[in-house]
Amino acid sequence: MREADRPCPGRRGGPPRGARYAVDDGASLATVATGSVEWVTAGLSLNNVPDLAAAIRAVRRVLVSGGHLVFTVPHPCFEAPQARWSGGADEPPGRVVGNYLVEGFWRSANPDGARRAGNQHRMLSTYVTSLVEHGLVIGRLAEPAPDARVIAEQPQRAGLPPFLLISGLRSPTTGASTSRGRAQHLRRRRHPSRTGLRSHPADP
Ligand SMILES: C[S@@+](CC[C@H](N)C(=O)[O-])C[C@H]1O[C@@H](n2cnc3c(N)ncnc32)[C@H](O)[C@@H]1O
Repeated sequence: MREADRPCPGRRGGPPRGARYAVDDGASLATVATGSVEWVTAGLSLNNVPDLAAAIRAVRRVLVSGGHLVFTVPHPCFEAPQARWSGGADEPPGRVVGNYLVEGFWRSANPDGARRAGNQHRMLSTYVTSLVEHGLVIGRLAEPAPDARVIAEQPQRAGLPPFLLISGLRSPTTGASTSRGRAQHLRRRRHPSRTGLRSHPADP
């Protein structure tokens, strides 16, 4: 049995309602058909993928027109290379950020830190720009506060959002998936007679 054909293991009793699992690379999503899904979620995983552009391109490919991507990453403003905690007996705890502008792979030196396993650091603007460049319309950015349990265990985190959430929509009204596509799209809108189109085409 292929991994993708196994029933949802979390479901108790009764037939599965169509949930399927597949082992795949988020940078290609080769097991997912083009234009076949309405939602893609990626929880704390795009920060592990070295080629962000390939991953967003794959997401755009599998989304239906009007489909959504929502993902979280460790908040890049605070989980950046060489970030560490400051503060002591005489001052409140704070976060010292190292090289926010230096993108790439890094590991936390903190033996208890979640980022000790390694992380691809990207600036917040890189995530947003990548979505826009691949024809996704930004829907929302969110920076949720840590919950009470986290604050009880790690009081130093009280004032900082641990995650950044971004959502994007594969627009049903634009054919722009790349810079070249956007340029063609704008030319068609400015000169519809040259292309024979009266209005811009729907997303293929
Ligand atoms: C920190 S875990 C997050 C797991 C889960 N989403 C959660 O929030 O608890 C990161 C996950 O990203 C997955 N991952 C890393 N690189 C990947 C890739 N290229 N394609 C698909 N998944 C990948 C890892 O296998 C791992 O399960």
